[in-house]
Amino acid sequence: MSSRTELSSWKNLIAHQRDMDAVHMRDLFAQDENRFQSFSLQLDDLLFDFSKNRITDKTLNLLTALADQVGLAEKIDAMFSGAAINTTEHRAALHTALRNRSSRPVYVDGLDVMPEIRNVLAKMQVFSDAVRGGSWRGHTGKAIVTIVNIGIGGSDLGPRLVVQALECSSTSHLKTIFISGVDACQLEITLQHLDPETTLFIVASKSFATAETMLNAKAAKDWLVDSLGDATAIANHFVAVSANRSAATDFGIDADGVFELWDWVGGRYSLWSAVGLPIAISVGMDQFEELLAGAYAMDEHFRSAPWDKNIPVVMALLGVWYTNFFAAHSYAVLPYDPSLRLFPGYLQQLDMESNGKSCTRDGAELNYATGPVVWGELGMDSQHAFYQSLHQGTAMVPCDFLCAAHSATESYADHHRWLLANCMAQSKALLTGKTAQEVREELLATGVSEAEIERLTAHKVFPGNRPSNTILYRQLTPQVLGSLLAMYEHRTFVQGVIWDVNSFDQWGVELGKSLAKDLNEELIRDGSVEGHDSSTNGLLNRCLNW
Ligand code: F6P
Repeated sequence: MSSRTELSSWKNLIAHQRDMDAVHMRDLFAQDENRFQSFSLQLDDLLFDFSKNRITDKTLNLLTALADQVGLAEKIDAMFSGAAINTTEHRAALHTALRNRSSRPVYVDGLDVMPEIRNVLAKMQVFSDAVRGGSWRGHTGKAIVTIVNIGIGGSDLGPRLVVQALECSSTSHLKTIFISGVDACQLEITLQHLDPETTLFIVASKSFATAETMLNAKAAKDWLVDSLGDATAIANHFVAVSANRSAATDFGIDADGVFELWDWVGGRYSLWSAVGLPIAISVGMDQFEELLAGAYAMDEHFRSAPWDKNIPVVMALLGVWYTNFFAAHSYAVLPYDPSLRLFPGYLQQLDMESNGKSCTRDGAELNYATGPVVWGELGMDSQHAFYQSLHQGTAMVPCDFLCAAHSATESYADHHRWLLANCMAQSKALLTGKTAQEVREELLATGVSEAEIERLTAHKVFPGNRPSNTILYRQLTPQVLGSLLAMYEHRTFVQGVIWDVNSFDQWGVELGKSLAKDLNEELIRDGSVEGHDSSTNGLLNRCLNW
């Protein structure tokens, strides 16, 4: 049994929640006209408004006391200094070193990793410049036109998100495509529309052993070699990003074409490494460096700001407040920024693969909730879909709204204004709700009969008091995006510390992987399948019959 629930701060929070349960945020706003100033923080061009939460100064004090009691400061130091905090894999978690813009060395097992990081960044610069500038040629002498990134999970979601997010401001003539999963249709359609002479494949896989990625990479390699009629063409059309150099070269990729990754970079934290190569090629290395600089600014803020002024820490503590003391089971992320349409999927991996755990770092069973279900969609679209439930459903779902003060384009200014108005409208509606009295008055004013008012009121009441954060940024520049993503990474880390879980392993994905390998064999064999549970047997046999 973990000791978290025995901490005095935990017990104080339980007691405080009982007091706060009946408090409506409407009243908190009415009592303090400076609530926004008191409960918002800013780092450069990024503003974090957390005033629409069910908190008071006391709540924040109790939550920061919890951070102290679990030794957050030491844990942050341990992460930044390269300690092997991923204890089940005996590894450091040093994504922060990848964006270390200072001259500070970072040691892993007594070795400064910064020179290696800088070497890979320099190699990315040379390569991305050559591809973008047209001096990197395909096998037949033509310049590259299309980049295809083959990866999955962290080797796909992060770079895919960033490339898509910065697309609107990109001036590149290159097209970047991401292939993940094992989608035969996607592969077929994608390859049909590609010109092998002008296509560059990046095989991104830390392990260079992930079945889906290897299957896609092999299919792409066969297609290229068949199309160009020469196996040596691979050298000009394939590069790899991997910590497993020998597997990449065995696959046929030129040794110079392997961009190094290290075991101390977790997959879901890897977009800052050479996994970001498609970003560098798509928007240019300067912009990639700006992305790193934005993340570094957040890192510096995170490691130095006091807890109550520390954006990722406050975000994390609010999540703990709702998960553990209000029993909120899910958490919605709602970008009012079309550039961030892939953000919910990225965050699902970051958060749920990190903190969806049921035992402590020491292996003890937990007696409290950890990572909630993270979900979300573009806000503008989803307010016409699932917002009904956010406003009037029985579950309280804490939300993060994200929006840019300025669009990435000057065109269609009305569109952007509408986005902003809708974003603010939704968080305001969640906060204030609408009382039965207000509903009555509204209906009376439109001449509705008493009987009809009686019938309709319950349906039109909004309870309000539903918490949300708003993350408002000036514009989604690479720098802002870097800060934003690092903010969520650190939020995840802090919650892992509070919950006493290892946020850097992911054993929960292994069982399915190994079973899939076995079942794949069953689907090749002749005859009917036996030996599993009846459901699995039944489904496999029906596939074979069909
Ligand atoms: O299956 C989960 C996972 O290991 C993720 O953590 C990782 O990001 C993804 O698979 C891809 O792994 P790799 O980069 O080794 O192909």
